[in-house]
Amino acid sequence: MSALPTVLDVDTGIDDALALLLALRSPELRVVAVTCVAGNVTLDRVLRNTLGVLTVAGAEEVAVAAGADRPLVRRLTTATFFHGVDGIGGVPLPDTGARVVDEPAAALLCRMAREHAGELNLVAVGPLTNVALACRLDAGFPRRLRRLVVMGGAAGVAGNVTPAAEANFFNDPEAAAVVFQSGAAVTMVGLDVTLRALFEAKRYRLLRDVLPGRGDAVARFAYGIMERYLEADLAAGLEGSPLHDPLAVAALAQPSLIRSRPLHVAVETEGRLTAGQSVVNLAGVVERLESRGDHDDVVGLTHPAPNCEVALEVETAPFIDLFCTRLGLLPD
Ligand code: RIB
Ligand code: CA
Repeated sequence: MSALPTVLDVDTGIDDALALLLALRSPELRVVAVTCVAGNVTLDRVLRNTLGVLTVAGAEEVAVAAGADRPLVRRLTTATFFHGVDGIGGVPLPDTGARVVDEPAAALLCRMAREHAGELNLVAVGPLTNVALACRLDAGFPRRLRRLVVMGGAAGVAGNVTPAAEANFFNDPEAAAVVFQSGAAVTMVGLDVTLRALFEAKRYRLLRDVLPGRGDAVARFAYGIMERYLEADLAAGLEGSPLHDPLAVAALAQPSLIRSRPLHVAVETEGRLTAGQSVVNLAGVVERLESRGDHDDVVGLTHPAPNCEVALEVETAPFIDLFCTRLGLLPD
């Protein structure tokens, strides 16, 4: 099978950087562009980090486009606790010859979807602001995509920013709502599976004695940026670092690593406590109400049509092996 033309939409932070490295080292994918959105850190730092990661990977030819520097209507919420002030765990980035193209992210996404009509894949691992803007810019954009893999949301587990909301959807609920109503072929890779895709601290410690002195630049860089990520995740009570964004990439490259169900998903945009919640209809049923004057009455059931594939199971060990092998994070 020829490599899948793929765009990554990133808010490069640490796991975005790992996802980009994994995509560039996955023969199943051909990364044709990267679009940047504010999220983990501000857009200027996302761009800087993304260009640096491409240089580390020897992929400076990949086009990088700047997108939204804030959510559609809300204030930006960054996550320097997990990613560091610079978004890359304080690890120095190499001087880069890579440059940001003039074309705005949304326009590039729409153009690429037309040029690769029916074949372009988009892996969105940040707030969905750019993707929503592309949907608004060109109504045909969503259905031109072969697959839109979204790292975000949660079906049957709590959020990670609030009890209701996962970070990418929390940052821009309105954008997520637009995307899930767009008709795109969405696979939602949410916390249900990414929290089970842990890079464990014990595995990291195995690398400590061997990696800094050897391995290729990608392996050393990945090892370096994970240190901050692990510290924060361990402080947050996890037993390792969830590889949120790399799993979204792997789900496209090797779909057998996850198991999903076609379900209806809507994103809450009104709630004071629930803004950004992915409301996943696991039962596939909604009661139908009719007005009876001063009250409503349940008169039947409706079955909302699924609008995406929701990942509910993950092959954790095979995924971690794939991630470590492709990034050279091996102790021997
Ligand atoms: O909830 C995890 C997601 O939020 C990941 O994409 C991480 O990079 C942050 O953007
Ligand atoms: Ca991200």
